[in-house]
Amino acid sequence: MNILICDSYGHLSEKAAEMIARQVNTKPDCVLGLATGSTPIGTYAALTKLYEAGKVDFSRVTSYNLDEYYPMSPENPQSYRYFMEEQLFRHINIRPEATHVPDGATDNPSATCADYDRQIEAAGGIDLQLLGIGQNGHIGFNEPGATLHASTHLTPLTEDTIAANARFFSSPEEVPTHAISMGMGSILRARSILLLISGKNKHAALSQLLSDKVDPLCPATFLKLHPCVTVLCDREAYDG
Ligand code: PGA
Repeated sequence: MNILICDSYGHLSEKAAEMIARQVNTKPDCVLGLATGSTPIGTYAALTKLYEAGKVDFSRVTSYNLDEYYPMSPENPQSYRYFMEEQLFRHINIRPEATHVPDGATDNPSATCADYDRQIEAAGGIDLQLLGIGQNGHIGFNEPGATLHASTHLTPLTEDTIAANARFFSSPEEVPTHAISMGMGSILRARSILLLISGKNKHAALSQLLSDKVDPLCPATFLKLHPCVTVLCDREAYDG
């Protein structure tokens, strides 16, 4: 793992956007794996600026998002589809039909999950996967546990994650109890991975990542098994 420590969240966001733009400029028809959460918001804003300045063109890019709440309609402002439209897709020239977020409104989640992995494979696999990390070390909604999933799957959210995500809802009761998430195998098949870690509350998860252990109780530690991972963290996350 290549670890880069940035002075600030702003610097981290610019650096991440530069890396994504470089990927797109190197391979204009690349497949990006994208993430939601508060951490990548600055990256998407910086990427929009690069697009507006004519420094990157998304017209041939395909994207697959990591996860979506279940059940969740794509029109719901709390959905990850809505988040992606607001934070990135509507500001850049990516083709709407080339953007993919797991379907939180499906009535057949197991078929939807199997199909998602098949679609990614048919698109040629993910070239660059952007990731955030949960305070509990989750990646996507691969939550800590005795075992982890390899493939895209329907999963219950842990109490920790429901509490952490309650800030986006009017009450914790409104947070969906389940999500559809790419599995650890789906993520580790990406050719390269860019993990963003910002803020003091991520220090414990980052420390586990820097230790030598691979532990399903901190799913992010499995990224140590991947040959091409860059971790961009800010000082707050690094120093704790
Ligand atoms: P955050 O979430 O960026 O909102 O902290 C990251 C995650 O839970 O994966």
